[in-house]
Amino acid sequence: MAASVSPNPQFCKRFSSTKTATTSAAAFFSKPSQISPNFNLERAKPSFLVRCSIRSSAPPISTLKQSCPRPEYIPNRISDPNYVRIFDTTLRDGEQSPGATMTTKQKLDIARQLAKLGVDIIEAGFPASSEADLEAVKLIAKEVGNVSPEGADGHVPVICGLSRCNKRDIDKAWEAVKYAKKPRIHTFIATSEIHLKHKLKKTKEQVLETARSMVAYARSLGCPDVEFSPEDAGRSDREFLYEILGEVIKAGATTLNIPDTVGILVHDEFEQLIADIKANTPGIDNVIISTHCQNDLGLATANSIGGAIAGARQLEVTINGIGERAGNASLEEVVMAIKCRGEQVMGGLYTGINTQHIVVTSKMVEECSGLHIQPHKAIVGANAFAHESGIHQDGMLKNKDTYEIMSPEDIGLLRSNESGIVLGKLSGRHALKAKLLELGYDIDGKELDDLFPRFKSVAENKKNITDEDLIALVSDEVFQPQVFWKLGDVQVTCGTLGLSTATVKLIDADGKEHIECSVGTGPVDAAYKAIDLITKVPLILLEYSLSAVTEGIDAIATTRVLIRGDSQTATHALTGEAMSRTFSGTGAAMDIVVSSVRAYLGALNKKLSFKKLNESEILVA
Ligand code: KIV
Repeated sequence: MAASVSPNPQFCKRFSSTKTATTSAAAFFSKPSQISPNFNLERAKPSFLVRCSIRSSAPPISTLKQSCPRPEYIPNRISDPNYVRIFDTTLRDGEQSPGATMTTKQKLDIARQLAKLGVDIIEAGFPASSEADLEAVKLIAKEVGNVSPEGADGHVPVICGLSRCNKRDIDKAWEAVKYAKKPRIHTFIATSEIHLKHKLKKTKEQVLETARSMVAYARSLGCPDVEFSPEDAGRSDREFLYEILGEVIKAGATTLNIPDTVGILVHDEFEQLIADIKANTPGIDNVIISTHCQNDLGLATANSIGGAIAGARQLEVTINGIGERAGNASLEEVVMAIKCRGEQVMGGLYTGINTQHIVVTSKMVEECSGLHIQPHKAIVGANAFAHESGIHQDGMLKNKDTYEIMSPEDIGLLRSNESGIVLGKLSGRHALKAKLLELGYDIDGKELDDLFPRFKSVAENKKNITDEDLIALVSDEVFQPQVFWKLGDVQVTCGTLGLSTATVKLIDADGKEHIECSVGTGPVDAAYKAIDLITKVPLILLEYSLSAVTEGIDAIATTRVLIRGDSQTATHALTGEAMSRTFSGTGAAMDIVVSSVRAYLGALNKKLSFKKLNESEILVA
């Protein structure tokens, strides 16, 4: 287990002064003369931000609705008509984002965190797509689908596996999820004219029969909970939708999910679609209606909320809104919209999410997927609670509710000036552990042992250790894939005189040391080439970026890279095209070359975790 959240999770202040230097790797490595050897890291300008602490007497809007107990889980029924189930598909649809490949260990860590967050259903993957996916879903079903996390009041999430409407996929999904206390199979087939004609090459009658018989087949395996999705429902003929949905209800479906697969519908249209399905589908009162909104027009959150207002009681979302193309409805936005406004404008809707775990979950997904969120992202962006303008700061100092519609503490964001523990070079393991707990990371055992010397070395070189520094170290040390290659030492020479040279010592999984040196167009290029000489794994560097996490010359630098190997391909089920898997990596250190090497090794280790996969995996859209 990499990191988990304390029962009282709190998180640090925003990254107020982050400076990011991003360049395409190709440009960077082919034009060395444009890049200074030390990347010319600009010193970040400190910016004045109001950091609120104790709230004034006026209650924040978010506290108006106190959370109610979660109703008992019955697949096709919810005893409280106002309760909205949250179905998280970060590990399935989210992982379909380009470059978001996650290892089994990372998926398990995220699933555990989602259980703590209190999601009702975790869609853990698409078991038929590869052996690795099948094993990951099985592991999550066993490990996360049978225990209630500390502080979760006995709640155990449903573990769901996706399958197309065929027996092989359904068998694989069942093989993976059956170990969970509450297993679910989610099966789908396209229903729109355009998909029938061009993708499936089937008639409506054939699709209807496939859907009906495959839902019945899934139930016949002993699965008590079967979700059905008419893919591209947003562009499907209404009468056909009512008919097929009515048939799958008769065949035993417990949840009907309505995907706007291409994210084309606007708010009113999606709300009307759900209302029409509710009004016209035979047997609809015996099942739960769900939404699945893609974000192609930036409307996924609004449409999901519209769906809930029209009667949907399951909303499919991902952490940070990651997913195919422009992504999915984001969990944090949908959940906080319901929390902030459910009472006032949604007739009292509520969810079972413990919103104080949102920030840490978001951070974890950001690190494991390598997909970074923009500073102005709603709820979890670095600036989401920042107030720079004078008028806003004045208002905030007088009363927080002038410019904040929710309290940062509601999502687990603690301003650092409120936290009691200040770390320095004399701080010990206990202080570090306590501070990390305060930031929301429950790190112990070997992970703490590995982190501590890294912390000490930063503390010896840096006057003030900030929360951002610690978070960068946690990201680098803890959210890492299985280690095949570890950095021993790296030494570079660079500058205007002569070639940049790097000597790198790596340690393999058996503890054996390997040393190589190489020249390059800059110190990072030289170091990466030396690594390639040791590992002999052909890699293509697709993206490289470096950021300083705090202001000052002694800032920790975080490097992120995206690489592609030459072997792992996957077939996209929609287009049938062979796609290469890409792998992200993150590194953090005060030395930018060390940080860069750590990131490269992180991505390489992730790639090596996938070595045993089939050449022809299948990804779905
Ligand atoms: O976008 C979509 O239609 C899907 C379905 C499989 C639910 O992801």
